[in-house]
Amino acid sequence: MSEKLPNCGISSLRIGAMPSVRGALMTIAIPFAFGISHAQAAERSGESIAKEVCVACHKTGEKGAPIIGDKEAWAKRKAQGLTNLGQHAVEGIRNMPAHGGNAGLSSPDLERAITYMVNQSGGKWTEPVNKAAPQKARTGAQLVKAKCGDCHLTGANGAPKIGDRDAWVNRVSGGLDKVIASGIHGRGAMPPRGGLADITDAEMRAAVVYMFTESTAPKKK
Ligand code: HEC
Ligand code: HEC
Repeated sequence: MSEKLPNCGISSLRIGAMPSVRGALMTIAIPFAFGISHAQAAERSGESIAKEVCVACHKTGEKGAPIIGDKEAWAKRKAQGLTNLGQHAVEGIRNMPAHGGNAGLSSPDLERAITYMVNQSGGKWTEPVNKAAPQKARTGAQLVKAKCGDCHLTGANGAPKIGDRDAWVNRVSGGLDKVIASGIHGRGAMPPRGGLADITDAEMRAAVVYMFTESTAPKKK
């Protein structure tokens, strides 16, 4: 079997003689190869939401829905402002169903769809951005700098120190997922999620993988 692990950047590690380490490295090759970016769903545009959901009524004027493109019908609605219209779309109003009948649409989704319909009907609104959208995932290196390094750079309270190859190999020998899970839930003097409640599971994985690789990668001479 080849020792090359595609995309993980640690293929030059000599691990042949240590089966447990090889197992651990194989496990981490997976998150490396596939990355974690798919965890962040793309934000849907107002146009795509309107064309998929809202047109069911707003194209034909079903039940008195203001028709997309009907400037007069939308002029009156528009005068209420996006906040009010958005609220009516969330709650429903008269024959307009709550969330346009699609509970999966968030309030910012609805506001973008409304903005699209208004703009197709003589308006000039700017599509709002989704404030609730998850921020871009932080990298392992960023998280370690921001938090994990507080203990893992110094080895405070028995934290496996970054650079201590044996310590990390021992921890990870039981499987990377286990170690990540114990980092998420906390263990001994290690606080859950390293003490930062908003760290996602994917970010925890990235931070652990980063510390592990930093500790086991061959030293640059
Ligand atoms: C099942 C039909 C139906 C669907 C689907 C639908 N609407 Fe409506 N909508 C209506 C009707 C009917 C009205 C007119 C309600 C009234 O003013 O009596 C309306 C009115 C509105 C208004 C004006 C509210 C106001 O306060 O004047 C907005 C904004 C709106 N819809 C947004 C949306 C959005 C966004 C979607 C898609 C996510 C959507 N609607 C999907 C039927 C629908
Ligand atoms: C307040 C100090 C502290 C901070 C901050 C901290 N850790 Fe730890 N960590 C520890 C200690 C202490 C241990 C050893 C716990 C034990 O095994 O008893 C540990 C152990 C671990 C382990 C090994 C768990 C196991 O099952 O062997 C992982 C993984 C880990 N930390 C990840 C992280 C990550 C990721 C962060 C940053 C998001 C972080 N830690 C931040 C103190 C800390």
